[in-house]
Amino acid sequence: MVDASGGAFTGGPRVIFLGPPGAGKGTQAARLADHLAIPRISTGDMLRDAIAAGTPVGRQVGPIMEKGGLVPDDLLDKIISERLRMKDAENGYILDGFPRTLRQAEGFEGMETARGDVTDDVFVLSIEVPREELLKRLSGRRWCPQCQATYHVYNNPPKSDALCDNDGAKLIQREDDKEVAVKRRLTEYDERTAPLIGYYLGRSRFHRIDGYRPPDVVFGDLVEIVARRPAPSARAGKPA
Ligand code: AP5
Ligand code: MG
Repeated sequence: MVDASGGAFTGGPRVIFLGPPGAGKGTQAARLADHLAIPRISTGDMLRDAIAAGTPVGRQVGPIMEKGGLVPDDLLDKIISERLRMKDAENGYILDGFPRTLRQAEGFEGMETARGDVTDDVFVLSIEVPREELLKRLSGRRWCPQCQATYHVYNNPPKSDALCDNDGAKLIQREDDKEVAVKRRLTEYDERTAPLIGYYLGRSRFHRIDGYRPPDVVFGDLVEIVARRPAPSARAGKPA
């Protein structure tokens, strides 16, 4: 359980993962969060949790997500601003799946300014993968409904057939990994999320990552990039 008494940001690494569905954001964000010992904040996982718990938010977003549409910006702003106020986000965090529209990016910038930091210091890692490969990854993805761990039937199979390595739960296919929803998610990405590349380019620590390589190789690049973060003393009076 995370403590909600946090507030001021103390200056740790902040990372945004951008990329189309299936690019490997979740896979890499989980590894980088472990490596940097900061939380991974996945809006997709938070929304799926709300659906599983049957909350009012879950009931609102369930039908939208199932069809592969984007959830309204206002709701995402609220979810993220509450989440970033939690104590465990005080020393950095990784955003997996947010922002996803220009409205969300502007809202995030407002939140960061209110916390006393600037978005130019955020790493924006855009993972790029050819479309055909995305389709293969999404159709073969399997998912643990209990701990949300992600597998792939060929690229990253569980140790025991169709069971989660962490908790033994039966793996399933995400409803939005079925063909029609995937098509809609890719269209939403092209129309509403891809423009964020232009928004961040030249403003933040923006990096394009070739995600069409083995996960370990991609991860090696990410670790190297975030290690290039300037020492606290060089970061214009920001605390360590
Ligand atoms: P979300 O859960 O964020 O889904 P997504 O962006 O569609 O991305 P995915 O989770 O499908 O892909 P990923 O890039 O994480 O890839 P993964 O690592 O799993 O969002 C779901 C829905 O929630 C949205 O459609 C929307 O409705 C809603 N939502 C969430 N945030 C929102 C927001 N901000 N605004 C509005 N709505 C929002 O990898 C995919 C597969 O490939 C896996 O099987 C994996 O094992 C495999 N794989 C990974 N890396 C490699 C590699 N290097 N080589 C080979 N295989 C690999
Ligand atoms: Mg994901």
